Amino acid sequence: MKAICVTPSRTLEVRDIPTPGEPAAGHVLVEMDASAINQGDKTFLRMPTAVGNPLALDRHEVWGASGAGRVIAVGAGVPADYAGKQVAVYRSLGRSAESVGLWCERAHVPCSACLILPDHVRARDYCGSLVNVMTAYAFLEEIAEAGHKGVIVTAGNSATGCAMASLARSRKLPAIFLVRTEAARRALIQSGVEHVLVTEEGFTDRLAALSAELATTAVFDGVGGDLLGKIAPSLPMNSTIYAYGFLGGAVPIAIPSVLFMMKNLTMRRFSNFESRTVKEQGRLVAALKTLESLIDDPLFVTRIGEEFRLDQIEQAMACEPSDGARAVLVAAPARRRSDVARRNDEQAA
Ligand SMILES: NC(=O)c1ccc[n+]([C@@H]2O[C@H](COP(=O)([O-])OP(=O)(O)OC[C@H]3O[C@@H](n4cnc5c(N)ncnc54)[C@H](OP(=O)(O)O)[C@@H]3O)[C@@H](O)[C@H]2O)c1
Repeated sequence: MKAICVTPSRTLEVRDIPTPGEPAAGHVLVEMDASAINQGDKTFLRMPTAVGNPLALDRHEVWGASGAGRVIAVGAGVPADYAGKQVAVYRSLGRSAESVGLWCERAHVPCSACLILPDHVRARDYCGSLVNVMTAYAFLEEIAEAGHKGVIVTAGNSATGCAMASLARSRKLPAIFLVRTEAARRALIQSGVEHVLVTEEGFTDRLAALSAELATTAVFDGVGGDLLGKIAPSLPMNSTIYAYGFLGGAVPIAIPSVLFMMKNLTMRRFSNFESRTVKEQGRLVAALKTLESLIDDPLFVTRIGEEFRLDQIEQAMACEPSDGARAVLVAAPARRRSDVARRNDEQAA
């Protein structure tokens, strides 16, 4: 089968590799329908140690963190409800020496890397979702244990931000979403999100008042850079900034040290791989079960930009769709952006 593999110089190439046959115990075979190219697929290719130890590749060096498809065979010990189901897959939820995938025609992964999708959704619409959904879920579990009662989300309209919006709402957890544009604010409000602030002149006063009222002491930060310097003075006492993403690039964070004293401010990282939800099997299985019942919320859907075949990987990696959409690798021939945009508009209408 065709697979996209990593070369020693950390570039990608299409190779022919053996098609996985019988699934190993605890594993499923997934006929892949589509795989979104997420921020992390680019970050970790360039910078394998971005969250510490490099992530292990499978024996064929296949790349790609997320995708979606249909289970065509289950190994011994896999719960019967996986058989024949469409699934969203996030490779890092379950790693094994036998794993193959994800950017290939047929993946072989532990069933714990798969979320069963309901029959009434289209698997392709979740081809980049599970990494972001699980990150938001694991984060909420972690901050609940740390005693936080509310959250501020910096990349409010990113995929992780939207996933957070849905999960915070289902837990009735107060949440404030920061976005860069009025259009993004409107879109979130239309999705039923209550507190959305545009990071324009004067927003920090409104943030200070709202965060004090809602006691949002956990910051889920996917941006970094100068935004953190702006919001730090508006955070409530005992706040913790959890850096989980770097959409703001290499711009340094500048926070006067007195704020650490004044507010008992903490800064640390959040990585889903390191969370108890992902590391502890019982918690992971429980998380997947909970998410199965919530996953058809449109806030979890992957925004699909242009579609590419596996052999178009170079163009796909270079593609930067606007409005947070993803370039997507698909089994079927590529559709043009205009077709996809039209379908998205029809769905939104
Ligand atoms: N630590 C973990 O476990 C983990 C897991 C998943 C993802 N991540 C990381 O989290 C970050 C977000 O990932 P994602 O998939 O949610 O992102 P995404 O969906 O691709 O979000 C991109 C959107 O964020 C908004 N944004 C806000 N500030 C931005 C800025 N300074 N630069 C660029 N875009 C900005 C943009 O919307 P507007 O243009 O409308 O403002 C953009 O469309 C990435 O760095 C990713 O690698 C970390």
